Amino acid sequence: MISRAPNILVFDSGLGGLTVHAELLKARPDATYAYAADDAAFPYGDWEPEALTGQVVRVLGALIATRRPDIVVIACNTASTLALPLLRAKFPEIPFVGTVPAIKPAATASRSRLISVLATPGTVARDYTRDLIRDYAAHCDVRLVGSARLASLAEARMQGVFVDDADIAREIMPAFVEMEGRRTDHIVLACTHYPLLLEDLRRLAPWPVDWVDPAPAIARRADHLLTEAGFAHHRHASETRVEPGEALFTSGARPNHAVARALAARRLGLTDGPATAGARLQEERNAAQ
Ligand code: DGL
Repeated sequence: MISRAPNILVFDSGLGGLTVHAELLKARPDATYAYAADDAAFPYGDWEPEALTGQVVRVLGALIATRRPDIVVIACNTASTLALPLLRAKFPEIPFVGTVPAIKPAATASRSRLISVLATPGTVARDYTRDLIRDYAAHCDVRLVGSARLASLAEARMQGVFVDDADIAREIMPAFVEMEGRRTDHIVLACTHYPLLLEDLRRLAPWPVDWVDPAPAIARRADHLLTEAGFAHHRHASETRVEPGEALFTSGARPNHAVARALAARRLGLTDGPATAGARLQEERNAAQ
């Protein structure tokens, strides 16, 4: 058994991965967290697959070299559905947990057999997503909805910027389908940014649906892999000396007040100054190129 706290690196293009981080914190309050947002490259949803694969491998390479995580959680569907096999091949010593559309649980639970997958344009275009539908949702009608703007609206909300209900509604409406007397009853939140808007999604939905968020399952998987790797399971953070978490932004931009507050509420500090941490990561990325 390893008695020290595990180091967990959580990675996303922006603040969406905080929805996964929140569940990880519940499952492993004893861990030391680094939360890295590749905000210089946000949004990932628009990127060409090849360029995005290169970007993710480069940024994560720099992070792994300096942070030496015991596990990496890719809290981003757009990156996971594309780059997971390559990341595992490049860094075979590190366990990776990805975030992929929760199509299986949605299809299993659906009574109307009408489900929708709300994701970035990148994620809806992936073979990975199509394969999940073929393998687990063949008995359902599945509407794939690629939203160009919803992740950016969630970022804006986190930054304390006013977000118009009409803009959110426009992005989610195509996910609500009525067909032959049936209605969509499950919508897969296949972008980690979207649960940040969950209250709005519920409020603006034309009828109630189950919004399926895979974050708790991801946290369970990470917890399981850490236990398998021999990390003792401390029930309370106070049982170990837990270092404060660290938040990193690849742009080097200083997060505004609202974001800093949201990070602090999640026990993520900007310990050596956000600009410094971001600039350091930028240097590491340049060095790794
Ligand atoms: N949070 C990311 C995801 O889960 C995507 C946001 C973006 O477009 O960068 O897919």
